[in-house]
Amino acid sequence: MTEKEKLIVLGAGGHASVVVEAAMANNPSCHVEVFDMAAVDTKFLGFPLTTGMPNPAAFPVSEFKAIVAIGNAYVRTKLCAELKAMGYQLANVIHPRAWVSPTAQLATGVFVGANATVNSQASLGVAVIVNTGAVVEHHCVLKDGVHIAPGAVLAGAVKIGHRSFVGANTAVKEAVEVGDDVAIGAGSFVGKIITKSGTFVGVPVREMKED
Ligand SMILES: CC(C)(COP(=O)(O)OP(=O)(O)OC[C@H]1O[C@@H](n2cnc3c(N)ncnc32)[C@H](O)[C@@H]1OP(=O)(O)O)[C@@H](O)C(=O)NCCC(=O)NCCS
Repeated sequence: MTEKEKLIVLGAGGHASVVVEAAMANNPSCHVEVFDMAAVDTKFLGFPLTTGMPNPAAFPVSEFKAIVAIGNAYVRTKLCAELKAMGYQLANVIHPRAWVSPTAQLATGVFVGANATVNSQASLGVAVIVNTGAVVEHHCVLKDGVHIAPGAVLAGAVKIGHRSFVGANTAVKEAVEVGDDVAIGAGSFVGKIITKSGTFVGVPVREMKED
């Protein structure tokens, strides 16, 4: 971020604190305004915290970019669409200690955490999270709303569908495709295509059945 940029952050939970601190690591003089639907305080990490959505009359779309820092993929992608409809440009927040290849393609509203890698020619959709220490190898394609949790590793050319979640420390074999609205539990191994939505866990992954 350049010195004059101002950032609206939607969300005031744990993920939001990581995003705000990454934004500050990029630019300590960054002006941050935090919004949350159920704010329980007036400050968040020392920044103003307001209940509800930002009002463009007070926070002009010409001055502020915005990022949604909420883990839930449905909420995150929906709020990104609402912000865009209000006229806000979505900001990407990339921690200064992340590696993002110059040939990777990033949409908007993307967060890449500390020590994460987004390698050559990978493609990240709107509101994607590549969390702390995660690896998204070359030619991976992550659709809108995907969340790759801390320490997860996607080998080359993996495709992850809309809003899907890959849990912490999970490994996904090269060129494997995972469909939309899939949750892969922490510490799993995905070696084969997953087409249906649902929750999958284990080494190798199996679908988790409801009791
Ligand atoms: C998969 C997951 C979503 C399931 O959560 P849940 O529905 O609350 O499941 P529960 O904790 O009730 O566990 C149900 C059973 O599945 C097992 N299980 C849960 N997650 C598992 C995992 N990742 N791998 C293997 N088994 C798992 C539990 O041990 C339990 O087994 P039991 O019935 O024999 O005791 C969750 O465990 C998980 O892995 N979340 C991802 C965590 C993560 O990566 N967070 C990063 C956020 S940044």
